[in-house]
Amino acid sequence: MLVIIKENYDEMSKEAAKQVAALVRKKPDCVIGFATGSTPLGLYKELIRMHKEEGLDFSKITTFNLDEYVGLPPEHPQSYHYFMWENLFNHINVNPSNVYIPMGMADDIDAFCEWYENKIKEVGGIDLQILGIGANGHIAFNEPGSSLGSRTRIKTLTEKTRQDNARFFSSMEEVPKYAITMGVGTIMEARRLLLLASGTSKAEAIRATVEGPIMAKYPATIVQLHRYATVIIDKDAASKLEADYS
Ligand code: PGA
Repeated sequence: MLVIIKENYDEMSKEAAKQVAALVRKKPDCVIGFATGSTPLGLYKELIRMHKEEGLDFSKITTFNLDEYVGLPPEHPQSYHYFMWENLFNHINVNPSNVYIPMGMADDIDAFCEWYENKIKEVGGIDLQILGIGANGHIAFNEPGSSLGSRTRIKTLTEKTRQDNARFFSSMEEVPKYAITMGVGTIMEARRLLLLASGTSKAEAIRATVEGPIMAKYPATIVQLHRYATVIIDKDAASKLEADYS
């Protein structure tokens, strides 16, 4: 695991963008796994800038998102479909037919999850998966206790995650209770992982992920077993690490 500690959120985002851009230049038809949440917003801003100012070409990439709320239609402002188009896809030249985001409104969710897994295989697998991390150590919506070999499936959100996300909804009742999420096993099959975290609220989860034992209580800890995992964090998120990563 390569741990890169940057001075602040901005530097973390720029480092992540540099790594994503290097892949897109080297392999224009690469498959990128995207994440939602506030953490990757700076990365997406920088990718948009690189597209507009430096001509970074996304026309041949294929994308898969990690997760989506069950019951929110794509046009709902809190859906992850909406988030991705608003914060990235509308501003770069991605081909809409190469964009895959779990369908929270699917009639048969189990069948959809199987289709999603097969689609990832069909395009040759994910080259680079971007990840955030929850304060409770979740990756995507794989909450504490998730099976470390899990595949794309429906998950019940924990109260903690619902509370963390309640700020985006007008009331707690509106916060969805379920989500479709790639499994921990699905994520681990990506050829490279890029996990980002910023701020002291993530420091404990980062300590567990980088230096703690691997355990289902912190699903992100499995990343230690990945051959090509890079963790890019700011100083605050790194504040509980004990080893020297300089
Ligand atoms: P955040 O969420 O980037 O909004 O902190 C990350 C996550 O919960 O995975």
